[in-house]
Parts: sequence; structure tokens; C-alpha cells
Amino acid sequence: MRVLSGMQPSGTLHIGNYLGALKQWVEAQSSDAFYCVVDLHALTLEIDPATLRSQTLDLIATYLAAGLDPEICTIFLQSEVPYHAQMNWLLECVATYGELSRMTQFKEKSTRKTGYRVGLLTYPVLMAGDILLYETAEVPVGDDQRQHLELTRVLAERFNNRYGPTFVVPVGVQPKVAARVMDLQEPTRKMSKSISSPMGSIFVTDSASEIDKKIKKAVTDTDNEVRYDWDTKPGISNLLEIYSSLSDETPQAVAERYTRYGDLKSDLSALVVESLAPIQKRYDELMTDPVELRAVVARGALKANEVAGEVYRRAAHAMGLI
Ligand code: TYM
Repeated sequence: MRVLSGMQPSGTLHIGNYLGALKQWVEAQSSDAFYCVVDLHALTLEIDPATLRSQTLDLIATYLAAGLDPEICTIFLQSEVPYHAQMNWLLECVATYGELSRMTQFKEKSTRKTGYRVGLLTYPVLMAGDILLYETAEVPVGDDQRQHLELTRVLAERFNNRYGPTFVVPVGVQPKVAARVMDLQEPTRKMSKSISSPMGSIFVTDSASEIDKKIKKAVTDTDNEVRYDWDTKPGISNLLEIYSSLSDETPQAVAERYTRYGDLKSDLSALVVESLAPIQKRYDELMTDPVELRAVVARGALKANEVAGEVYRRAAHAMGLI
């Protein structure tokens, strides 16, 4: 089953990125799985060039540290496969302005600033191309990518109807729990690299004491009953989902073991520290050899270019390009 997903190199991953996406990727890896660092996407918002380069290397190291194995799956940089930019153009000529301007993430990000970049508007088309270029059946992503996945399906179907069967129509897959990890300080808002307060996100590189402090200070409520119920207890439900994702139990089963918030928080903090420690150790080792990190994605790009090139040529031909 062909699988593809990607992340932006826009800063250290938080535990939402890890539980919502990367952890699933590791479970789904096979010779048919493609995982990319979507560096072109990171250009849609202002980013210092040197920072982008170093965050790209960081993200490759994080993928490997979390357990992606380049001997098993294909790991590559989006910008090293030029078909992504080319496919973007073909699909921009299939998508409409109306459907792009209605995207929730575009509306949120464009209202925060005047003079936003055109790339911010067309971003979901680039993402659709990332997916369609690989004849992807399944896209493992967090819940916030649902709308982008839906657009990808709409564009694939529209293209196939107008120009003949060309693309596989993909589906998004979300994990059963932790598909939308919430901000620890504001549990009705998703944990986010760009908006969350520093105390609201746990980063995969956080030290044990930082993790402990953030979980102990996580906003809960005052009724002191450990119950999994998003409507009335979002703070506790969020902690239970993080716990459940790391322990492979249901959130309800975890909730049943606790009567006090403090005990749940202490155990969760120990579990998060213990789960991230091996990733952090391996990340530190990998970062000592940036040449090898570059080599991993260079090898990945060879395979990615082969697969994407074929699909690109098929799509270009279908549209009438000689
Ligand atoms: P990005 O880089 O914002 O996020 C990477 C992945 O992390 C998931 N995620 C979360 N999961 C659970 N809880 C959260 N609070 C949380 N925050 C983020 C995201 O759903 C995502 O899976 N547009 C994409 C990148 C992309 C892509 C693609 C993904 C570009 N092309 C092709 C899949 C296929 C993005 O910005 O993800």
C-alpha cells in the first residue's frame, strides 16, 4: 500500500506532530512508504534562509531518531524532486481561486498579517501535488490536515474526469487517539508551533524538567474527577489522549486508574520523558554527522524522482503538453 506524508521544517517538533503523525509513520513504514521534508512549504511564511537550512537537517535527524529507517522506506527533501514544483503548476490550473481562499488555514494565517505571500494561498495545491505524484493510497496525518486532504481528493477527481484516469484518489488516515493534541495551557486550541505559548507545547527535545513543569502546570478544571470527556473536560481529556497514545491503552482505561489529577500528571510526565529519551539520544548522535543526513535524503531523492517523474509525465501528457 503506497503511503506518503510530510512535515514542514518550521521548527522543533512538538508532541502533537510526533503523536499525530511521525509515530504513525514509523508504524506504517515499508518499501512502499515515502516521507518527505516539505521545505518548499516552509517558504510560504517568512523564514531566515540559514534557519531553514538548519531546521531541514534537524527534521531529517528527527525522522531517523523517531525510527524511520532509510533501508526500509524512502526519506527525501521535497525541493530535491523538482516534479513537485512542476506538478504544482499543473494543479494550479485545475484548482479554483474560490476553493483555495476558503481554506481554514489560509484564512487563519492570512488575517494575522497583511501582504501575505501568494504561496500561502496556493499551498494546498502544492500539497495535493506532493501526494498525487506518488500514486498515494494513504496519507497518515493529524486531524488539522483533513481539509487539505479533501481538496486533494477533489482535485484528483476533477483532473481524472476532465483529462482521463491519471491519479489515484488518496485517503487521509488519522490515529485513533492524539490526532489533535491540544495546547496544554488552552486545551480548546490545538498545540501549534506558531501560536502556542511556550508552556502550551511539549517539544520532542524538551528536557525532563521542562516536560515535568509543563505537564504539572497544564490547565485542567476544578471538579477533580479524572474522566475522559472532551465536552466538559478538555484539559484532562487531552492529557489522557497523550497518555493513551504512548501506552497503547484506551483513554477510558487510563482514566479508570486515577482519582487525582496530580497522580495522573506525575505518571504522564514520567511516561513522556521515558518515551522521548531514546529519540533525543539518537537525535544528538545523528546531528554529529550532517554529511550522512544529507546522503540519506540524496539517496531518497533518487527513488522519489523515479516514481514522481513517471506520474508527472503522465499528467502533463494528459493535459496536452508534448
Ligand atoms: P505540519 O508540518 O504543520 O505538521 C506535521 C504533521 O503534524 C500533525 N500535527 C498534529 N497532530 C496532532 N496534534 C497536533 N496539535 C498537531 N499539529 C500538527 C499534522 O497534521 C501533520 O500531519 N501541510 C502539512 C505538510 C504537508 C503534507 C504534504 C502532509 C505538505 N505536503 C503531503 C502530508 C502529505 C503541514 O503543514 O504539516
